[in-house]
Amino acid sequence: MRTEDPQLVRLADYRPPDFLIDRVALDIKLDQKKTRVTSRLSLRRNPIGRAGAPLLLDGDELLLLGVTLDGQPLDTSRYAVTPEKFTFAEPPEAPFELEIEIELDPSANTKLMGLYRSGSAYCTQCEAEGFRRITYFLDRPDILSVYTTRVQADRKEAPVLLSNGNPVEHGDIPNSSMHYAIWYDPFPKPCYLFALVGGDLGRIGDTFTTMSGRKVDLAIYVEHGNEPRAAYAMDALKRAMRWDETAYGREYDLDVFNIVAVSDFNMGAMENKGLNIFNDKYVLALPETATDADYAGIERVIAHEYLHNWTGNRITCRDWFQLCLKEGLTVFRDQEFTADQRSRAVQRIADVRTLRGQQFSEDAGPLAHSVRPDTYREINNFYTATVYEKGAELVRMLKVLVGEDTFARGIKLYFARCDGTAATVEDFLACFEVSSGRDLSHFALWYKQAGTPSVAIASTCDERAKTLTLEISQDTRPTPGQPDKKPLIVPLAIGLIGANGAALPLKAEVDAFDGATQSELSRGVLELTTARRHIVFREIPDRPVVSVLRGFSAPVQLVQSATDEDLVLQCACDSDRCARWQAAQSYATRLLVAAARQTPVGANQASIAAFGEALRQIVATSDDPPFTAQVLTLPSEADIAREIGENVDPDAVYLARQSLRADMGRALSRELTRLHRDLDQNAPYSPDARSAGRRALRNTALDLLAASDDAAGMRLAKAQFDAATNMTDRVAALGVLCLIEGEAREEALDDFYKRYAGDALVIDKWLTLQAIIPHAGTLDRVRRLMRSDAFSMGNPNRVRALIGAFAAGNQRQFNAPDGSGYEFIGECVLLLDPKNPQVAARLLSAFRTWRMMEPKRRRPAEATLQHIQAAQSLSPDVRDIADRSLA
Ligand code: TRP
Ligand code: ZN
Repeated sequence: MRTEDPQLVRLADYRPPDFLIDRVALDIKLDQKKTRVTSRLSLRRNPIGRAGAPLLLDGDELLLLGVTLDGQPLDTSRYAVTPEKFTFAEPPEAPFELEIEIELDPSANTKLMGLYRSGSAYCTQCEAEGFRRITYFLDRPDILSVYTTRVQADRKEAPVLLSNGNPVEHGDIPNSSMHYAIWYDPFPKPCYLFALVGGDLGRIGDTFTTMSGRKVDLAIYVEHGNEPRAAYAMDALKRAMRWDETAYGREYDLDVFNIVAVSDFNMGAMENKGLNIFNDKYVLALPETATDADYAGIERVIAHEYLHNWTGNRITCRDWFQLCLKEGLTVFRDQEFTADQRSRAVQRIADVRTLRGQQFSEDAGPLAHSVRPDTYREINNFYTATVYEKGAELVRMLKVLVGEDTFARGIKLYFARCDGTAATVEDFLACFEVSSGRDLSHFALWYKQAGTPSVAIASTCDERAKTLTLEISQDTRPTPGQPDKKPLIVPLAIGLIGANGAALPLKAEVDAFDGATQSELSRGVLELTTARRHIVFREIPDRPVVSVLRGFSAPVQLVQSATDEDLVLQCACDSDRCARWQAAQSYATRLLVAAARQTPVGANQASIAAFGEALRQIVATSDDPPFTAQVLTLPSEADIAREIGENVDPDAVYLARQSLRADMGRALSRELTRLHRDLDQNAPYSPDARSAGRRALRNTALDLLAASDDAAGMRLAKAQFDAATNMTDRVAALGVLCLIEGEAREEALDDFYKRYAGDALVIDKWLTLQAIIPHAGTLDRVRRLMRSDAFSMGNPNRVRALIGAFAAGNQRQFNAPDGSGYEFIGECVLLLDPKNPQVAARLLSAFRTWRMMEPKRRRPAEATLQHIQAAQSLSPDVRDIADRSLA
C-alpha cells in the first residue's frame, strides 16, 4: 500500500455522521441544458456525532446558485464552496433548514451518473455516489431521509414525470407550457435510492394485490412502440412480488411500483425505491428479438431489483464496505427465485458456472479482494463478481451450515430487527447466531479473507477392515495485501456411491478423534474447520466413489484424488445432478489441461471410452434436456487457463478445447444428429424453462456436430439460420456459422444485419458474435465495426457488446502474442475514460488475468497497463484498476 493515498477509504475509519437529515424537499425544474435543483434539507446534529463539527456536504461538478438558512440568505462569509464540497463551518446547534439551489446540464452528463439524458428522456443514477452530482448532500448510505420531490418540465417534452414513493399531486402551470408532479416517499431512505424520470414514454400497466389485500398499481415505461416488448418483464415482476410473499413473507409497501427502461445505462438495473430504472436490455423481449438467455436475464434482473425492496432498501447498508450485505443477499434471493421458477438443479449448475468463470478468475488475479473489502479507492470498482456472486455463496453456505429452518428463523429476525436501519454484515450474522445458538465468528472470516480455498480430498480404502479414510485439507493462496491465510469453515456435502452406483449409508466413528458428529452424518455435511481433517467411515463393503461438494456446498476449488474411472462413474450415477455435472467438468478439465500443456495424458483410453459411453447414455435418455446441455458444455477457455494457472498459452487452450469438442461431436454424432432433428419444435415459441431447455440441448448438439465436421455443420447451421422462427435458434445458428471461416459466415452476418438494422439490442448480438470470432482478422473486424453506424462509444451496451466481448470473451485475440489485442483495449480505455470512467474501468479489468500468461504475452500486457498508468488526468476509476493490476 502507498504511504500517502488521499483516495483511500478505510472501513476501520468509519464514524457515525455528525449531522442527520430527517427530511428532504426537492424541487427540480427539468431543462436539457439548464436544470434547476432546489433542495430543502431538515438538518440536525447527530447526538452521537462530534460536538461542534462543521457541516461538510459532498458535491461533484456542481454549480451553486444560492443558499438560505432557515429562510434567510446565508452570507457568503459563512460558507465555502467548490464543485466538490460545501463547507458550513459553524452551523446552528439547534435543528435548522438549509435550502440549496443548483444548476445542472443533463445533456453534458456522459458519465451516466447523477441526472442525465437517455434518448429523449431525463433519468438518474445515484448509486453509489451519484446523488452528489444532483445537489450538495451528505452522500453516504447511513443518512436516511423522507423525500418529497416536485418535478417540473415542459408538458410536451416530458408528459411523464416520476419519482420515488407515491404520487401526491400533478397539474399544469397556468399560462405556460409547463406542468409538474409531486411525489412523496414515506420510507426513510439513503440518497443513493433517489430517482427521477421525465420524458415522453409509452406505458404498460397492471395491478398486484398483496397478501394483505392492498392493491398496487404497476407500470413499466418504455420508448413508444416498445410496449409489447415489456409484457414478459411485467409477468416476471408479478411472479417476483408473489414469491417474496410466499418464500419470505415480505409484502410490497407503496401504492405504486414503477419501472423505466432506458437505453443508456452503466449497469444492469437499479433498485431505486418504488422507481426501478433498467437497462432496456433487461426489460424488452419478443420471441423474434430476444433469446432464451435474454428472457432468463430479464426474469432474474426484474426479480433482483424488486427483491432489493427488502434487502437493500428497507434494510440498507451502513457504509459501502457493506455492499455485499444487500448485493450478496439479493443475488442469493434472485437465484432462489429462479430455482423455484425453473429447474433447481440446472439453475444451480448455471450459477456455479458463472461463479467459477467470473469470481474464481477475479480471485486468481491482481484484482482479488474480500467479499467485504476493508479499503477502497473507488467504490464503483467493487461492484464485482466477488461482492455479488461470492457474496451470494456465503449466504447459501450459511444456510447449509445452520440448516433450512434455522436459516429461515434467522432471516426473519433480520427483517424484524434491522428494518428501517442501515446495517452491517455483523448485524446480519448476529441474527443467525441467535437463531442457531452457534458462534459464527469463524464463519465471518469468509467475509474478510480473499481468495478461493483449495480443498483437497484423498481417500484410502482398507478392504479388510472395511473402512474408508478421508484426508481432507484446505489451503488458500496469498492475495494482494493478504499474504497469510487462515483455515475457513467449509461445509462439504458428501455422499458415498457403491460400485453398483447406489448410495451407501454414512457410518463413521462418532465424536472420536477421527470421527464425525452425528449431525454431520445425518445431514451428509462435513464441516472442515481446520487446515486438515481425517475421517474414517466404517462398514464399507467395497471401495466406494466419494461424492463431495454436492450442490456446490462451498465456493472452493476441489482438488480430487478421484481416479478418472471414479469421475466417470459419478458423472453417470451420482444422485446429485450438480455433482454429476461437476464430475464431467473435472474429467474434461483433466483432458483439456493435459492437451493444452502438451503433456501426453498417459492416454487412459479406457476411461475416455467410458466417459464417451456415459455421455452417450445421458444424451440417449436425455430425460432432462437443459441438464444434458450443461453436461455437454465444456469448461470455458478462461476456466481452463485458470486451471493451468501459469505460463498460459491461450492458443493451446483454444486448440485443446476445439479438438475435444470435435471428438465429442464425432463420438456422439448419431445421437446428436437425432437430437438436433427431434428437438425441433414446430410449436409457437414460448420462453418457459422446459421449451428453453430443449432449445438449449438442440443448439448444443448443433455446436458439437459443427465442431466435428465443418461442412455438415455449415449445412445444418445454415438451414437452421434460414428457417428459424425465434431469435434463440437464429442466433445459435449464426454463432456456429461464425466459428467456420468462409463465405457462408459473411453472408449470414450480412443477412442478419439487414434483417435487424435499427434494432440496437439485436445488433448488439451481431456485434458480440463477431467480436468473439477466435480467428486472426477479428481485431480488424472489430475496428471496422467501431466505425460503422451500428456502434457508438457513448452507449455502454454497444461498448460492452463489441469491445467488452472482445476483451473478456475472446481469449485468443485479446491475448494475441504480438500485443495487438492489449494495445487495442488500452486505446479504447483511454478514449472512453474522459466520457465514462465506470465503463472504461470495467473494460480495463479484462487485464486481471495478465499475470498468468506466458512471458511473451505478459510483456506487452504489462507495457499496455504501464502506458495507461502513465497517462495524464486518468479518472480515479481507471487509475485504481491500473494500479492494482500492476501492483
Ligand atoms: N444496485 C444495482 C444492482 O445491483 C447496481 C447498480 C446499478 C450500480 N447501477 C449502478 C452500481 C451504477 C454502481 C453504479 O441491482
Ligand atoms: Zn443488486
